[in-house]
Amino acid sequence: MAEDKFRESAASYECAYPAPYPEVRVAAPNPHYARLLLEDYAGPISELTAISQYVHHHVVLEPEFKEVSHLLECVSLVEMHHLEILAEIILLLGVDPRYRTIGQNNTEQYWNASLVYYGTSLCDRLTADIAGEWAAIANYRRHQQLINDPYIQNMLERIIMDELHHIRLFNQMVDKYCRPQL
Ligand SMILES: [Fe+2]
Ligand SMILES: [Fe+2]
Repeated sequence: MAEDKFRESAASYECAYPAPYPEVRVAAPNPHYARLLLEDYAGPISELTAISQYVHHHVVLEPEFKEVSHLLECVSLVEMHHLEILAEIILLLGVDPRYRTIGQNNTEQYWNASLVYYGTSLCDRLTADIAGEWAAIANYRRHQQLINDPYIQNMLERIIMDELHHIRLFNQMVDKYCRPQL
């Protein structure tokens, strides 16, 4: 997705942090770094899991909770932008960005739809979505330490700003719909 097109579709809803993204580039090809980023891209806690989960939550919550549903759709578009950025970086690092992780002995673990937390109510879904954002941030922070490439480190920092923004937005929904009214 072109950057300007993305801004129109996602930032206009204000669910992306209002700052530009760095250029997608890497210092040098590095398959080890690509394997680390495959976890953020299509592992259990990943952009692909987040997109799938938020779109599901968006659809099932739409009849009863329009505001939350709309936010989830908007945030899922931002996660799709993250997915695209990671795919481009993984490719530049020299690895095919298939939706899988690569473990010990080159074992491939393909992403599957049971990784999504489908949930049963508004508030357990929002709680899971917030927990997922925190877990994603923890993984990005760990990978920033392990990846000695300033271009990738800067991009992960920018992505983390979006994830923190998502936590703020989801918490606003929790405050509005999931707290007992005194
Ligand atoms: Fe993301
Ligand atoms: Fe996020």
